[in-house]
Amino acid sequence: MEYHHKLLLTWIYGAFAIIHLVQAQPDQQGFISLDCGLSPTESPYTDPLTGLTFSSDADFIQSGKRGEVGNDESYTYKQFKDLRYFPDGVRNCYNLTVNKGINYLIRAGFSYGNYDGLNISPRFHMHIGPNMWTSLVVESESYREIIYMSKSNLLQICLVKTGETIPMISTLELRPLRNDSYMTQLGPLNLIFRRTYTSDDLGYIRYPDDVLDRIWDRYDWIETNVNTTLNVTSSNPFAVPDAVSRFGISPRNSSRPLFFFASPKEKSGKMNVYFHFAEIQVLKENDTREFDILLDGTVIRKSYTPKVLQSETIYNILPQKCIGSCDLDLVQTQRSTLPPLVNAIETFDVLEFPYAETNQNDVDAMKNIQAIYGLDMISWQGDPCVPEVLKWEGLKCSYTNKSISPRIISLDLSSRGLIGVITHAFRNLTELQKLDLSNNSLTGGVPEYLANMKSLSIINLSWNDLMDPLPKTFHDREKNGLKLTINGNPKLCTDASCKKNNQKYVLPVITSTASVLIIVAVLILILVFKKKRSTQVQHELPSRMSINRQTKRFTYSEVVALTDNFERILGEGGFGVVYHGSLNGTQPIAVKLLSQSSVQGYKEFKAEVELLLRVHHVNLVSLVGYCDEEGHLALLYEYAPNGDLKQHLSGERGGSPLKWSSRLKIVIETAQGLEYLHMGCKPPIVHRDVKTTNILLDGHFLAKLADFGLSRSFPIGGETHVSTAVAGTPGYLDPEYYRTNRLNEKSDVYSFGIVLLETITSQPVIQQTRERSHIAAWVGYMLTKGDIENVVDPRLNREYEPTSVWKALEIALSCVNPSSEKRPNMSQVTNELKECLTLENSRQGGRPDMGSKSSVELSMSFTTEVTPSAR
Ligand SMILES: *[C@@H]1O[C@H](CO)[C@@H](O)[C@H](O)[C@H]1NC(C)=O
Ligand SMILES: *[C@@H]1O[C@H](CO)[C@@H](O)[C@H](O)[C@H]1NC(C)=O
Ligand SMILES: *[C@@H]1O[C@H](CO)[C@@H](O)[C@H](O)[C@H]1NC(C)=O
Ligand SMILES: *[C@@H]1O[C@H](CO)[C@@H](O)[C@H](O)[C@H]1NC(C)=O
Ligand SMILES: *[C@@H]1O[C@H](CO)[C@@H](O)[C@H](O)[C@H]1NC(C)=O
Ligand SMILES: *[C@@H]1O[C@H](CO)[C@@H](O)[C@H](O)[C@H]1NC(C)=O
Ligand SMILES: *[C@@H]1O[C@H](CO)[C@@H](O)[C@H](O)[C@H]1NC(C)=O
Ligand SMILES: *[C@@H]1O[C@H](CO)[C@@H](O)[C@H](O)[C@H]1NC(C)=O
Ligand SMILES: *[C@@H]1O[C@H](CO)[C@@H](O)[C@H](O)[C@H]1NC(C)=O
Ligand SMILES: *[C@@H]1O[C@H](CO)[C@@H](O)[C@H](O)[C@H]1NC(C)=O
Repeated sequence: MEYHHKLLLTWIYGAFAIIHLVQAQPDQQGFISLDCGLSPTESPYTDPLTGLTFSSDADFIQSGKRGEVGNDESYTYKQFKDLRYFPDGVRNCYNLTVNKGINYLIRAGFSYGNYDGLNISPRFHMHIGPNMWTSLVVESESYREIIYMSKSNLLQICLVKTGETIPMISTLELRPLRNDSYMTQLGPLNLIFRRTYTSDDLGYIRYPDDVLDRIWDRYDWIETNVNTTLNVTSSNPFAVPDAVSRFGISPRNSSRPLFFFASPKEKSGKMNVYFHFAEIQVLKENDTREFDILLDGTVIRKSYTPKVLQSETIYNILPQKCIGSCDLDLVQTQRSTLPPLVNAIETFDVLEFPYAETNQNDVDAMKNIQAIYGLDMISWQGDPCVPEVLKWEGLKCSYTNKSISPRIISLDLSSRGLIGVITHAFRNLTELQKLDLSNNSLTGGVPEYLANMKSLSIINLSWNDLMDPLPKTFHDREKNGLKLTINGNPKLCTDASCKKNNQKYVLPVITSTASVLIIVAVLILILVFKKKRSTQVQHELPSRMSINRQTKRFTYSEVVALTDNFERILGEGGFGVVYHGSLNGTQPIAVKLLSQSSVQGYKEFKAEVELLLRVHHVNLVSLVGYCDEEGHLALLYEYAPNGDLKQHLSGERGGSPLKWSSRLKIVIETAQGLEYLHMGCKPPIVHRDVKTTNILLDGHFLAKLADFGLSRSFPIGGETHVSTAVAGTPGYLDPEYYRTNRLNEKSDVYSFGIVLLETITSQPVIQQTRERSHIAAWVGYMLTKGDIENVVDPRLNREYEPTSVWKALEIALSCVNPSSEKRPNMSQVTNELKECLTLENSRQGGRPDMGSKSSVELSMSFTTEVTPSAR
């Protein structure tokens, strides 16, 4: 309603905007401005109020009809005159090409205007790809806006019928934003309001004043308005326009806080609030303006002072859960002589988009099939499989889990009037189990590839016009359970019938035999090659069930010999001393001699070694051998020449500090190792001593988690203040486990969270001289102060994608949640961290540095191997 009122004013004051246009005309780069329902013959045009170039939506949607509002004088912006409505189908989608990884402001405008003469407000839903954005009832002119980062280059914005009324839309606008401005990685942001505080009622501020074309609502709030005629600059990613920053408000009663509130619109109830500040009053010598910024009682910035004539934006990083509504308070501090002041506020719902899109290869294949046969089913819009109730007609999909991309497993195109040959595009539906092409007019031969599609077990080709002999491969597959139906194809011959008119089919038979031979040869080659490869990489595969053959039992005298009589000490752990050794005089190894005092029992040692022999993963230090002789117990590990993560973070090893992407790579690899212990092993193994000194780096900086499982049997000798029942290292130790003595995988998640915090901050885990001695408490304290920048290791020199670091911080904080139940599991952590790496890599122009990429990709393939076999 507010919008409606203001729109009218915009129209009245349109003249001002036009004057403005002459002065400034920033380019509209990356803008997509669609006037829905506009006749292509009138497209494009320049909007007289904003100077924006709008075009018809005809190229972006195949369905719907064009309409026009009833009274053609009642609209304000010209875009509200025409509209597109969707009487057919349930879901109709706009299909827009965008750049993935970029934040987009997506704004849809609606004006019903009784276009259909029914005078009933349309009610419907909007979806973005597979996820629901919002539900709406269109009355007068209104906008809906979301800030969203697309995961693919195709953005689908869909209107979904929910009842009797017909969905409609008037305008669709996309504005690229800087991806370090609004925080969308925790979920898309649905606009609640965007207000600039002024009594000056000149309608909206938008393009060209705001080069990003946000629509700022001029809002008159019952406090004291202030303004300046001086220019206010903005050098941050939010680029708040001068036209907004010149105005602000302060409390009318200067001894009271400045108070606002906002109610979430969507049921997530989680909000992000962006406060925009600039000092726009002339301060006296002894004046100070300082205030605390609170969001529903939580301080998001303490003792904040706005910058003189320079816009700055303060916001909450972690979404704030608000019940009913959220209070926004600006509270003057003790030492401040002036009351708080704010220029503008934006509030958003943080939405959850839980559904993964259908597998991209399947989508591409379906699009090909659709194009090749000219299929125009109305339901074939938007995501093929999700949401399940709107899936494309004729499809069946497999849904494992909403966060996993569904696959297409069945395609029924019977009686669709298909003409032409059977396309190769079906081949790309690699999980297809059932294909029905019956009762069409397909011609040509039956392609042999159908018989070679592993998952495909039911094929119905009956009642077509197919010809030629059926490739022999089909007969072989039929013996193995393929159900092939081909009746009703008079020109198609099977083995027996071909013989009768052999002459005619000699050539095809020869070619097909020849091609079979070629295929067989290729298959053999592939098999040989695969075999070769698999032997090459064997030692890296998680061979859970088989005992690693390379692990050997050594005698004590052999251990003495290969360590050169314990000549070189590498380090001293809780269990004993670690020596350098070398196997066969070449392969360097680390030998841990268990000190007599810490050995708890022979039985436990033995059980442990047996366990370790089974555990094998590229991100776990592998056991080369062990010694178990007359009370001499030793473990022989592969040697990690690059030391441990702690040494690199503390700068102890010298050299240039690890880059953010390298740090991410190391923690991802560590997380994969842990994920394997937790999910890939039966029974699961809890490491119990995850810490930066236990993360070793091999010659290629590949992370290797060390000492796994040991702590289960051997309490730490050196750190005796930890009780025997509870094992671990102070600072890393899960407080819940410490309290309850109950151990599960989530204790490792906690310790991993601490490792992550160390990796981000390079701070010691415990330091008494800091504001808070424990690292988790300290980070929490800094964030509450709003001091995020100083949380991050200064030696990174700000050379990182901020969103990547914030996301990692968020993951770390969720890992160190005091309640183990609320912590994520390691596979969630791994996935989230990989997204951080994606974010970081895209900062570097989408070109990850090759050295680190390959090994991450390598290890990623293990995760996929391991996860399905998890308990
Ligand atoms: C999506 O857009 C592309 C190009 O913009 C077009 O070729 C394609 O046909 C569209 N698909 C649908 C389903 O509208
Ligand atoms: C961030 O923005 C830049 C350009 O401004 C873009 O190249 C990059 O892909 C974006 N990526 C992400 C994920 O933030
Ligand atoms: C700006 O402030 C002055 C007084 O400080 C006031 O007279 C004037 O009306 C204000 N202008 C606007 C546009 O609010
Ligand atoms: C404000 O900026 C404009 C354009 O950048 C400039 O022409 C004008 O002189 C500036 N005004 C003041 C008061 O600095
Ligand atoms: C201003 O607020 C204070 C504290 O709430 C109150 O005591 C005082 O009466 C108020 N003054 C006016 C003028 O309203
Ligand atoms: C600030 O300084 C002015 C003179 O420079 C003085 O009159 C005034 O009382 C001072 N105000 C405060 C709060 O100290
Ligand atoms: C979905 O998968 C993730 C990770 O694979 C798992 O943690 C989660 O529990 C699954 N969700 C459901 C509903 O099965
Ligand atoms: C075959 O398709 C035609 C239309 O193409 C349809 O009328 C007929 O019912 C279909 N027959 C079967 C058995 O599905
Ligand atoms: C199958 O997919 C690959 C890439 O994924 C593509 O290059 C190829 O053209 C596709 N084949 C067909 C027949 O659509
Ligand atoms: C194959 O398709 C035909 C025609 O649509 C149908 O009548 C028949 O039942 C189907 N056969 C199988 C095995 O699905």
